[in-house]
Amino acid sequence: MALPSAVRIVEVGPRDGLQNESAMVPTAAKIELVDRLSATGLRTVEATSFVSPKWVPQLADAAEVFAGITRRPGVAYPVLVPNLQGYERARAVGADEVAVFTAASEAFNRRNTNAGIDESLERFAPVLERARADGVQVRGYVSTVLGCPYQGEVPLADVARVARALHAMGCYEVSLGDTIGVGTPAKARDMLRAVASEVPMPALAIHFHDTYGQALANVLACLEEGVAVVDAAVSGTGGCPYARGASGNLATEDLVYMLHGLGVATGVDLDALVDTGAWLSGILGRATGSRVTRARASA
Ligand code: HMG
Ligand code: MG
Repeated sequence: MALPSAVRIVEVGPRDGLQNESAMVPTAAKIELVDRLSATGLRTVEATSFVSPKWVPQLADAAEVFAGITRRPGVAYPVLVPNLQGYERARAVGADEVAVFTAASEAFNRRNTNAGIDESLERFAPVLERARADGVQVRGYVSTVLGCPYQGEVPLADVARVARALHAMGCYEVSLGDTIGVGTPAKARDMLRAVASEVPMPALAIHFHDTYGQALANVLACLEEGVAVVDAAVSGTGGCPYARGASGNLATEDLVYMLHGLGVATGVDLDALVDTGAWLSGILGRATGSRVTRARASA
């Protein structure tokens, strides 16, 4: 079993984790969350999202959050932007890495962004152009890579086409998202292989939701294919408001526990991460989605 010696974790809790919360999380708690996460050794913490506040009211305070965090040297703080307007809002508060997002399923992308896939790619062209001129790094997301709540099956060729388009536009990394968490390991591996024939593996990341309890198994199958960047959300928070039935993301604590158990380095202090996840579940007023944190609490 060949595994990478190290994995970079992209922590998406403050964005993907919180965007689906119906009760407003105080801005100060969002800032504290990002700062606590960056203190655990994580090198990438997706801080917030400059999407339309009408679509995602929970993250309407994106500018205040971004302006309030303490940026650590060596940590990247990407933010989600759906269009040039979001890019400008992000830049106004000093963001120097952004993420754009589309889907492999036309129906999902319409629900999520009110645009078809090609139309969303057209929206990103001026974002990528500005980013290049500004020296801003751009990450790309492809959603619904293993199934769509509206369309059902998603052809691998569609996933590969969209990933290739994002990479060709200038995204340094393309994250492949099983938005509704329906994938199983062999399907995840086949999907990654299909994409890796179009986009170099070092430019790929994986993003699993744990709806059916398959996220860690899917990660392992993909690590064996050579991927070395994995998205996760502390405390297993999250879900997409436009992905019916989707549960939380893979919990970062559980990912770190598995990787360290496999001898794969992450640079993350698991104790500090568990503390942060437990603190967050207190803020959200519900049990943590991390099995590791639950096990530690009952030990
Ligand atoms: P639209 O309504 O079609 O946009 O939304 P529009 O361009 O027609 O503008 C309508 C209004 O929104 C205007 O305001 C704009 O100014 C405003 P009005 O004139 O009516 O007062 N507006 C904005 N305001 C602030 N910031 C902006 C912005 N853009 C427009 N950036 C749009 C189109 C894409 C904006 C909208 O559909 C949107 O924001 N969607 C985001 C949905 C979302 O955040 N989904 C979750 C993230 S994706 C995800 O979770 C999946 C992922 O984790 C990977 C995975 O799991 O698979 C990434
Ligand atoms: Mg997601």
